[in-house]
Amino acid sequence: MPHPYVLLSAAVSLDGYLDDTGPERLLLSGPADFDRVDEVRASVDAILVGAGTIRADNPRLLVNSPERRADRVARGRSEYPLKVTVSGSGDLDPAARFWHTGGEKVLYTTDRGAERAHAHGLAADVVPLGPELDWRRLLEHLHAVRGVRRLMVEGGGLVHTQLLTQGLADELQLVLAPLFVGDPDAPRLFGPGSYQGGRLRLLETRAVGDVVLMRYEPTAPGTGALPSAADHHWLALACDLAERCPPSGTAFSVGAVVVAADGTELARGHSREGGDPVVHAEEAALAKTDPTDPRLATATVYSSLEPCARRASRPAPCARLILDAGIRRVVTAWREPDTFVPGADGSGVLVDGGAVVVVLPEHEERAQAPNGHLIGR
Ligand SMILES: NC(=O)c1ccc[n+]([C@@H]2O[C@H](COP(=O)([O-])OP(=O)(O)OC[C@H]3O[C@@H](n4cnc5c(N)ncnc54)[C@H](OP(=O)(O)O)[C@@H]3O)[C@@H](O)[C@H]2O)c1
Ligand SMILES: [Zn+2]
Repeated sequence: MPHPYVLLSAAVSLDGYLDDTGPERLLLSGPADFDRVDEVRASVDAILVGAGTIRADNPRLLVNSPERRADRVARGRSEYPLKVTVSGSGDLDPAARFWHTGGEKVLYTTDRGAERAHAHGLAADVVPLGPELDWRRLLEHLHAVRGVRRLMVEGGGLVHTQLLTQGLADELQLVLAPLFVGDPDAPRLFGPGSYQGGRLRLLETRAVGDVVLMRYEPTAPGTGALPSAADHHWLALACDLAERCPPSGTAFSVGAVVVAADGTELARGHSREGGDPVVHAEEAALAKTDPTDPRLATATVYSSLEPCARRASRPAPCARLILDAGIRRVVTAWREPDTFVPGADGSGVLVDGGAVVVVLPEHEERAQAPNGHLIGR
């Protein structure tokens, strides 16, 4: 089930705190950065904060610029992004500004929390997600029911930590403020946990007044059948590579990338690469890996098309080459159609060999684009 693009946004002190312990909210960034945040807010479908942030900061979470709001309306969007909060307890102050400013609001909570939320008479759509709050279900619901494609998450630390440790964040926009908090009782931005993102990829740094904005994206593949945000990045890259294949009327155009568990790219390839008229993408990529590399055992292969199960041009199909390399996780966009090999079932071969195959149909259209002439499009 598709998720929105999840963008985490936070400001942090030089010593890693996102607030002090005083009653007032600590202002970490300055006017130029507040304006930048306003611009990001204007660009998203929804803004989410945890219940802790509503209690501590009583934020409004509005798009403040009238021009940006007018621009949203001109583009057929709501004037304000949907406001979303999460609470297990359902114990939220019905007088908080969150409920009484801006556009629509939704509270995701537990079954028990929903009872309390109703008792408080919160001015919001209350959505119980079961006995526990499950972030994947929350994101699926936002996408499917609320039509949210871009979600901005503005804290607090507990929410950011969970989204990062569960591999659900697509981007982190972190602002480093030139001050120290120095109080060990203050809330830290990121708590302990087993972070899934791997080494983050730096997308941008920008000075905004006296703070520095850093934009990162996670790189680590998901684990098992659970897709991570970075799985989408790598599969999109495989689809880009498919576009580079020399055209053919008799074979698919496919791209493939091999990625280690920590997010390091080990190899990439595409069909008919380097003038070889029959080489397949996965085969081309695997040929560039070192067969003794211990990282292969926990690596993921991203292939725009399901790896092949049978082929005439080489002794071993790609599904077999992947298993022989010791790789046990494959992410693909599209199951192989019957165009050339009726009943081809590369996923079956992989699963029989002990691998997990994850299909992300969100990428199917892009994976098929360079193959339209072969599948009657
Ligand atoms: N510097 C910044 O950029 C920034 C941004 C935002 C906030 N902040 C600061 O962050 C602090 C608040 O952060 P925080 O970590 O305490 O709070 P938070 O992340 O905003 O919210 C935590 C609350 O959200 C609910 N929640 C989160 N995950 C849940 C789950 N899996 N299941 C059920 N409920 C869940 C719980 O609500 P219930 O307790 O109701 O169950 C939990 O107590 C404040 O000091 C604020 O000033 C700073
Ligand atoms: Zn193949």
